[in-house]
Amino acid sequence: MPIHPGLPRTPTVERLDARLVGPGSAAVVEAAELAALEIETGLDQNALILACLEWARRWARAPLSSFEVGAAALGESGRLYLGANIEFRGLPLSQTIHAEQSAIAHAWAHEETGLRLIATSAAPCGFCRQFMFELPEPRPQLLLASEADHPPTPIESLLPSAFGPTQLGRAPQLLRSGPHGLQLVEPVEHSEHAELTALALAAANRSSAPYTGARSGVALETVGGQRFVGAVAESVAYNPTLAPMQAALISAHHGGRGGRGGQGGRGSDMLGSIVRAVLVEVEGSPLSQLDGARQILASVAPAATCSVALARAVVVA
Ligand code: THU
Ligand code: ZN
Repeated sequence: MPIHPGLPRTPTVERLDARLVGPGSAAVVEAAELAALEIETGLDQNALILACLEWARRWARAPLSSFEVGAAALGESGRLYLGANIEFRGLPLSQTIHAEQSAIAHAWAHEETGLRLIATSAAPCGFCRQFMFELPEPRPQLLLASEADHPPTPIESLLPSAFGPTQLGRAPQLLRSGPHGLQLVEPVEHSEHAELTALALAAANRSSAPYTGARSGVALETVGGQRFVGAVAESVAYNPTLAPMQAALISAHHGGRGGRGGQGGRGSDMLGSIVRAVLVEVEGSPLSQLDGARQILASVAPAATCSVALARAVVVA
């Protein structure tokens, strides 16, 4: 892997360059590492976040377009979550995951409850502008690589006359949703998937479905025994909604194998190493995520299984 072209060879740059190698490695830059980069390079934080997009693009999976997009979301904790676009061979283009969604869902999986800034290597499409507009206030500022000399832009200014959550009488709740008090309808203590189901239930309990109430979460397990989760993130405009399987695939693709360095990189197929998934959704919901989840899982891991467990909200008297 060549050294990052846009940065001087400082110790932290070299360390990150060796670590941020793509799928199989964790797509996160720690707050302390960002601070060290500032001191070592003399660049300001925004310039460094834009430079980090070069690393983010190492996670791009674009077998259809070959167009690799990198994004980075700066959490309130000061950690920087990288994300890239993920395309699915054989599936409709509408299943594509955009880099911005990857970075946001990746931050969400790490329980960030607010984002300060989102940077992108390509101008965000209308769909992503809508998705970012639905983040809780104060919304993150947007930093575009194509306008590196400009200060960060408020998302509101990129989406005039927006169709926002208030149009349907809701407040933005992505990243801050739950817990919803969901419990499994049929306890699975003795099932071989009990732990995975518990993780999927926890994800459903943090999911954001203010428009339909169809809360849902997915937990995945890889052949190496690693587990990743994701939850539905509904959009007020419906179509930009991030499905729970997509969110979980984002976590797996960007999450790294953990502990065992040197195993990541472009050839490392985290998604292909998924062996099973559990979807938890609410009984009696007006929609189901199951068919969509199975379809997209089958496209990356044909032998993987996806089971479903139903949940209901338990009202505490
Ligand atoms: N893409 C993004 O990741 N973000 C955007 O907002 C623009 C488009 C990706 C989607 C697809 O994988 C490729 O770029 C071509 O559109
Ligand atoms: Zn987009």
